[in-house]
Amino acid sequence: MKHPHILLFTGKGGVGKTTIAAATAIRAADLGHRTLLMSADPAHSLSDALQKSLGPEPKAVEPNLYAQEIDVYYSIRKYWGALRDYVLRVFKWQKVDETLAEEFAALPGMEEGASFLWVEKFYREGEFDAIIIDSAPTGETLKLLSLPLVGQWWMERIFPIHKKVTKRLGPMVRAVTNVPIPEDETYEAVEDLYSKLLAIHEVLADPDRSAIRLVLNPERMVIQEASRMYTYLQLYGYPVDAAIVNRILPDDGSNTFRNYIRAQKRHLHEIEEAFAPLPIFRVPHLGQEVFGTRLLRQIGERLYEQKDPTTIFVKERSYLLKAQNGAYLLEIHLPLLQKGDVSVTQYGDELVIQVRNQRRNFFLPKFLAYYTASSARLQEGWLRVHFDKPKQVE
Ligand SMILES: Nc1ncnc2c1ncn2[C@@H]1O[C@H](COP(=O)(O)OP(=O)(O)OP(=O)(O)O)[C@@H](O)[C@H]1O
Ligand SMILES: [Mg+2]
Repeated sequence: MKHPHILLFTGKGGVGKTTIAAATAIRAADLGHRTLLMSADPAHSLSDALQKSLGPEPKAVEPNLYAQEIDVYYSIRKYWGALRDYVLRVFKWQKVDETLAEEFAALPGMEEGASFLWVEKFYREGEFDAIIIDSAPTGETLKLLSLPLVGQWWMERIFPIHKKVTKRLGPMVRAVTNVPIPEDETYEAVEDLYSKLLAIHEVLADPDRSAIRLVLNPERMVIQEASRMYTYLQLYGYPVDAAIVNRILPDDGSNTFRNYIRAQKRHLHEIEEAFAPLPIFRVPHLGQEVFGTRLLRQIGERLYEQKDPTTIFVKERSYLLKAQNGAYLLEIHLPLLQKGDVSVTQYGDELVIQVRNQRRNFFLPKFLAYYTASSARLQEGWLRVHFDKPKQVE
């Protein structure tokens, strides 16, 4: 059985994630791939973009193309039956109003977890060639992607203890307090849930099977957020294979936008430097809002040209952080900078790298702000920076 490639689109709010994810899916379907387009953003806008009504299960929208908007309540009923029943019993016992209990039963993380479970199912079943995910703005995606790790921690540390204690004390607790005790099937449900989350985490972290694409606009704040996201994704070990610059204004000599277009050119150049070796795709502003499959198809064709959008474009990591006796070694792949004297200056969680007349700002994981960059070397396109341990806080 062939498993699908999974492509996840992320970026700052409003940059065009939904538009680009939908355009990519239409292009993939046109090329003959059986494609599932999934909205994992709780504030869905996929049906608006496609101009088709969608539901919590995949629905055929075009030849080869299925689309779905994840609904957390629907998914809880479908996947968390036993767990939900237990949570509802606890709330009832605590005399929480039933409608509120229903609301609380959607525990934090479940929104994100729900879309992961769907991805796990479709990945396992191998019915599609490509799964394309339109996700929530940046911060939420990071939460989504770190969820399996948090879940793993919870499962390994807390859950076995809880299970043992209630198993042993169950009848006693029941006699004294009549707190609802989870049934064995509740435990099984939780265990099944997390083993699925771990499985899909492994798939999403595997560059042969998945890729994350960063969507951005040629604007300063957007670029900064995307660079930070790029750093964090690589830190968590999630492969990123492209950056897509959307809504580029044409340089048609317009006077009104003259300054904007000049700044945009500078930003496009910065994007190329900041995201190399990722391929950078460019999408023009269409001069109108993008709704419906006709315009989306147009975007998809222009965006990928002769390339197959379901290909994973880059598989190597360009960023590695290694712990070394309490200090850190950071390795960044900078293929545009071959050799030469390099100077590196650290400003908190930003690193400014200067090689001859080229300069590049690089976002560090926030905790490295407490460490000091002590030396840097550039060898065969890789920059290696040592970070010394922080001094003891008095
Ligand atoms: N290339 C383009 N040309 C013109 N308009 C565009 C283009 N790309 C996106 N838009 C428009 O920009 C708006 C935002 O796009 P979209 O909804 O895809 O962004 P988003 O990143 O998914 O937003 P959110 O963060 O709210 O989910 C929409 O009205 C869309 O039609
Ligand atoms: Mg969106």
